Amino acid sequence: MNSLYQTSIHSLPLLGHGKVRDNYAVGDDKILIVTTDRLSAFDVVMNEPIPGKGMVLNQMSDFWFEKLGHIVPNHLTGVAPESVVAADEVEQVKGRAVVAKRLKPIMVEAVVRGYIIGSGWKDYQDTGSICGIKLPAGLQQAEKLPEPLFTPAAKAELGEHDENISFADMESRIGAELAAKMRDVSIALYQAAADYAATRGIIIADTKFEFGLDDNGVMHLMDEVLTADSSRFWPADSYQPGMSPPSFDKQFVRDYLETLSWGKTAPAPALPADVIDKTQAKYFEAIERLTGQKLKA
Ligand SMILES: Nc1ncnc2c1ncn2[C@@H]1O[C@H](COP(=O)(O)OP(=O)(O)O)[C@@H](O)[C@H]1O
Ligand SMILES: [Mg+2]
Repeated sequence: MNSLYQTSIHSLPLLGHGKVRDNYAVGDDKILIVTTDRLSAFDVVMNEPIPGKGMVLNQMSDFWFEKLGHIVPNHLTGVAPESVVAADEVEQVKGRAVVAKRLKPIMVEAVVRGYIIGSGWKDYQDTGSICGIKLPAGLQQAEKLPEPLFTPAAKAELGEHDENISFADMESRIGAELAAKMRDVSIALYQAAADYAATRGIIIADTKFEFGLDDNGVMHLMDEVLTADSSRFWPADSYQPGMSPPSFDKQFVRDYLETLSWGKTAPAPALPADVIDKTQAKYFEAIERLTGQKLKA
């Protein structure tokens, strides 16, 4: 399995390195997004690659873009990544990149929660609400919510944590009309994806979408979609409310990190080889369970 920690593509102007993706300009209206094998946990990038992880994420996103294309337009152009780089750079993009419309990112992330877990569970225990949305008393950890909740977060600068905001705050940041559209589309996307995943024995506990606007102000789904990084996937057969379910995402690394006395700020501690191997296996298992097909290497 080829492994890529960071790209070095010289035939295109570098726009920037995100935590996981490296972006390059393709002309003035498109971008090449390469998903590397970097892994971030608690918003800190680990020092070791998870070999093949970027391919898994890229192919998962492609899968969902196609499946959900009827709900909202997305950033894909259909241009082959191999066609926009030099011959000796093709290996860096194969199976792990897209050429996307270059959009103006909406600086609010669209989080949808179908189950009560993670920061939502903590919030509920403290306040009886998630992000200010009142919930019935007596919910257990990992329980299915009466209906999916939309809980927006302000997109943070590199190295900062995203910050949960109220829907009213979202409206004042981006306008009521766009906020409502983002909420409704996000819930529709989550619902369609969760219904499909259920047929594959997977629960999508929660997920995060990002949207951007084109030159005409049309809202597009962008970035990564319903990947193991942006979502919590749980195997349905071992699901039980009242505990934190084993998952197909990087929870495994998070659990390891929780055993250390690490302040969750950079620099990241070293990951042991067996944590890397098991995490890699989780990502591969996730794409196979979800799509029914092996990773196309
Ligand atoms: N079509 C697009 N147009 C413009 N920006 C995009 C598009 N798709 C994704 N992005 C941005 O590219 C970056 C992807 O890199 P990533 O590693 O996910 O960054 P982050 O550390 O912000 O999560 C994100 O900042 C995302 O908002
Ligand atoms: Mg991201």
